[in-house]
Amino acid sequence: ILKCKIGPSVLNADLSQLYIESQKLLDNGADYLHLDVMDGQFVPNLSFGHPVVKCLRTKIPNAFFETHMMVQDPEKWIEPMADAGVDQYTFHIEPVLVNVLKVCRKIKEAGMKVGIALKPDTGIEAVRQYIDHADLILVMTVEPGFGGQSFMANMMPKVQWLRKNYPLLDIEVDGGVGLNTINACAEAGANMIVSGTAIISSGDQRAVIASLRETVES
Ligand code: DX5
Ligand code: ZN
Repeated sequence: ILKCKIGPSVLNADLSQLYIESQKLLDNGADYLHLDVMDGQFVPNLSFGHPVVKCLRTKIPNAFFETHMMVQDPEKWIEPMADAGVDQYTFHIEPVLVNVLKVCRKIKEAGMKVGIALKPDTGIEAVRQYIDHADLILVMTVEPGFGGQSFMANMMPKVQWLRKNYPLLDIEVDGGVGLNTINACAEAGANMIVSGTAIISSGDQRAVIASLRETVES
């Protein structure tokens, strides 16, 4: 019953053509869009925020939008992102350890699905007590901030633990995932696959997306 979903990250696409690049990914078989929001504080980089997501939504009314909130104050952007038409709000647990339940509740009240993300140095213990309040756990397989980094295979025990204990949970991996690393993710039990440069820089997006999916489903 747990479907495998492929969610390309547009971070390293030609952002001057965000709509065209996003639509192309969807036409080539993407199941959802993974939109990387960065505030220059939680991570040492800037990307785009809710005004851009809202414009994208007007051009793409139906696709599932996940925002990966690499921001210092995730609570602050819940309403603007809901208003922009976001379906799933995935926030990092690290800056908000005391307020996680409140953030989860507000995301739900705003009508979005709840995702909780873990940086590589954050252990499973930090998220354990909140899993029942989340729709998805995102296990980062690079330090958040930039696309095109190397996959950290030593994150797979976190995915394995989650899958073993939560057979029906959406478990997402993000960072350095491509044709050479998807196998490890699939074996560990991830079912939501974010992939940026591996898809964007490929000459045949459709083939890469299909083959990522095939590896997870087999
Ligand atoms: C990293 C972002 C990722 C990244 C994925 O901070 O969260 O979504 O853009 O890109 P690749 O697949 O190139 O690592
Ligand atoms: Zn991301």
